[in-house]
Formats: sequence, C-alpha cells, structure tokens
Amino acid sequence: MTFAAAPNPYNATVIGREEINPQLVILRVRPDAELFDFKPGQFAVLGLPGTAPRVAEAASEDVPTEPDKLVRRAYSIASSSLERRYVEFYITLITSGQLTPRLFALRHGSRVFLGPKASGLFTLDQVPPEKAVILVATGTGLAPYISMLRTMLVNDERRRFVVLHGARYSWDLGYRGELESLARLRPNLTYIPSITRADQDPHFHGRVGRIQALVEQGVLEKESGLTLNPAKAEVFLCGNPDMVQAVRMMLEDKGYSAAKGKAACTIHIEEYW
Ligand SMILES: Cc1cc2nc3c(=O)[nH]c(=O)nc-3n(C[C@H](O)[C@H](O)[C@H](O)COP(=O)(O)OP(=O)(O)OC[C@H]3O[C@@H](n4cnc5c(N)ncnc54)[C@H](O)[C@@H]3O)c2cc1C
Ligand SMILES: NC(=O)c1ccc[n+]([C@@H]2O[C@H](COP(=O)([O-])OP(=O)(O)OC[C@H]3O[C@@H](n4cnc5c(N)ncnc54)[C@H](OP(=O)(O)O)[C@@H]3O)[C@@H](O)[C@H]2O)c1
Repeated sequence: MTFAAAPNPYNATVIGREEINPQLVILRVRPDAELFDFKPGQFAVLGLPGTAPRVAEAASEDVPTEPDKLVRRAYSIASSSLERRYVEFYITLITSGQLTPRLFALRHGSRVFLGPKASGLFTLDQVPPEKAVILVATGTGLAPYISMLRTMLVNDERRRFVVLHGARYSWDLGYRGELESLARLRPNLTYIPSITRADQDPHFHGRVGRIQALVEQGVLEKESGLTLNPAKAEVFLCGNPDMVQAVRMMLEDKGYSAAKGKAACTIHIEEYW
C-alpha cells in the first residue's frame, strides 16, 4: 500500500524500542490524539514516507519508493487493549521491503504515521467462554496473541489457553520470557515454543520442528492435556501462509472448519502475506 503523503503525515511518536535481535523489534507508539479503542487480535496501520531513512542492513528495494509517497502496512497490536497510552507492535525486518527497513531506523522520539483505527475479525469475540483457545503462530504472528493474553488472562482464570510458537532460532522467540513467566503463574496457560534450525542453535533444549510436525506428533495435546476437538477447543492460526494452510488442512481432517456462514468457524485465520 503506497499513498501520496500529506505534507506532514506524522501523528504519533515512538516511545519504546526493544531490539530482540537485529531482525526483530518491538515498537511502542503513542498517538498525538487519544488512542483508538481496539479488541485484542486486531491490527492497526503504520506508515512512513519514502523520504524516511532505511537501516544499513536493508537490501536495495525491489521497486524504489517514491519520496512523496506514504508507505503503509498492517501490524497486529501486541499490547493489551486496556493500555491506553500506547500501542505495541512486534515487527520483523524484510531487508528488501519498503516499510520495515524504515521502521527499523526509528528511534525513541521518532515520528511515525499511525492509522486512526484498528481493524480485523481475528478476535476472541465469537469463541464461547467455555471453550479452550489454541493460539498457533510462526514468527511475528505471535503479536495478536500477546494482546489477547495480556488483556484476557488477567481476568479469565477458567478458560484454557495454549500458545504454540514456531521460529527459526531460539533468539527469534520474542516474548519468550514473558510467556514463560505467565505460564508459571497461570495454570490455565500452556506455552510451547519450537525452533526449526536447531543445527545452528545447539544450546536450545526445547522443542524442535515445524508447527505441523508438532501437531502431527501430538505434542500440543500431550503438553496441554487438551484434545483437538472442535467442540472443546478453537484454534487460531497466524503468520506464515504455508504454515497456516498446512495446519488448517490437518485440523479440517479432525472436523474443524474455517468456513464462515451459518456454521460457526472453529479455525480462525490471519495471514500476514
Ligand atoms: C493483518 C496483518 C497483520 C500483520 N501484522 C504483522 C505484525 O504484527 N508483524 C509483522 O512483522 N508483520 C505483520 N504483517 C506484515 C506487514 O503488513 C508487512 O507486510 C511486512 O512488515 C513487510 O512490509 P515491507 O514493506 O517491509 O515489505 P514488502 O515489500 O511489503 O514485502 C512483503 C514480503 O515480505 C514477507 N513478509 C511480510 N511480512 C512478514 C512477516 N511478518 N514475517 C515474515 N515474512 C514476512 C513476505 O514474503 C511478503 O511477500 C501483517 C500483515 C497483515 C495483513
Ligand atoms: N534469524 C534470521 O535469519 C531472521 C530473523 C528474523 C527475520 N528474518 C527475515 O525476516 C523474514 C521472515 O523471517 P521469519 O523467520 O520471521 O519468518 P518465516 O520465514 O516465516 O519463518 C518463521 C518460522 O516459520 C517456519 N516456516 C517456514 N515455512 C513454513 C511452512 N511452510 N510450514 C510451517 N512452518 C514454516 C520457519 O521454519 P524454517 O526454518 O523451516 O523455514 C520458521 O520456524 C525473512 O525475510 C528473513 O530473511 C531473518
């Protein structure tokens, strides 16, 4: 998405920047105006003009960005919807991308465009309260779940939550410390991190393998004690579209449905690209 930039498109300030590693960053953005309301799981839009600098690690752009254009992209909100001062985002660097090399160049105090509202149906709204929720992500697909857990886990001690998060290396497992602490404190949360490139990360002693392999091996069920039964647990899938597709097919074999319409869906999907 590229739009003609207003003379001054900036309406928000970066008030927090935590680099998980050089390719992963957590940004906190405070709007000049009052923060929009949002539901955990929704996304907002960040934007920067073509004139904004790109980080040194960036590759040359596939298509050069016109200087007078505002480059805008969707980002899932990771902060709690109860947090009214800022919104938090968890972003991966696409070195050849238009926006992320510019977002990675932002520092504390930098100005940025933040869209005026949040959007998206990837929320817990339609999940009956007695059902468990299985939150499956690769990479930064974890972001909407962080918002859900930060918002709901505090008050919802009954509902079971499971987080299955896949990344290449252990140093790409953002929010791992927070999720491990939450899982220790809250018996209704099970956190299962997994890495896929263990040969280059020999000191990681956790789960290894792609998400669909773990589901196939029954890891989800063994570690959480839940059964993959659409009447008892709904599944959220977010991140890499190939992972989403593969896991969706496995779940459909077990009676799950992503279809909308009259039948309520039991698989909820957010694809990032
Ligand atoms: C609803 C929604 C929510 C999103 N939330 C997030 C989020 O919370 N965090 C985030 O980092 N991105 C998120 N994205 C992706 C984001 O909108 C951009 O596409 C991404 O940041 C790349 O922008 P770019 O201009 O740098 O690269 P572009 O030039 O637009 O390059 C796009 C290419 O980069 C790759 N890619 C894009 N996003 C990712 C990703 N997250 N992980 C791995 N590869 C990717 C794909 O190959 C894609 O074709 C979301 C997308 C959607 C539709
Ligand atoms: N450490 C890094 O090198 C690094 C870190 C962050 C970002 N980046 C850059 O950021 C972009 C995105 O990287 P990312 O690692 O966040 O996202 P990603 O490439 O989507 O990988 C995230 C996780 O999804 C897995 N995955 C990939 N394809 C899959 C499929 N078909 N089914 C199931 N799982 C699948 C990956 O496993 P596999 O390992 O098997 O691919 C990895 O565990 C890339 O452009 C990358 O160059 C690189």
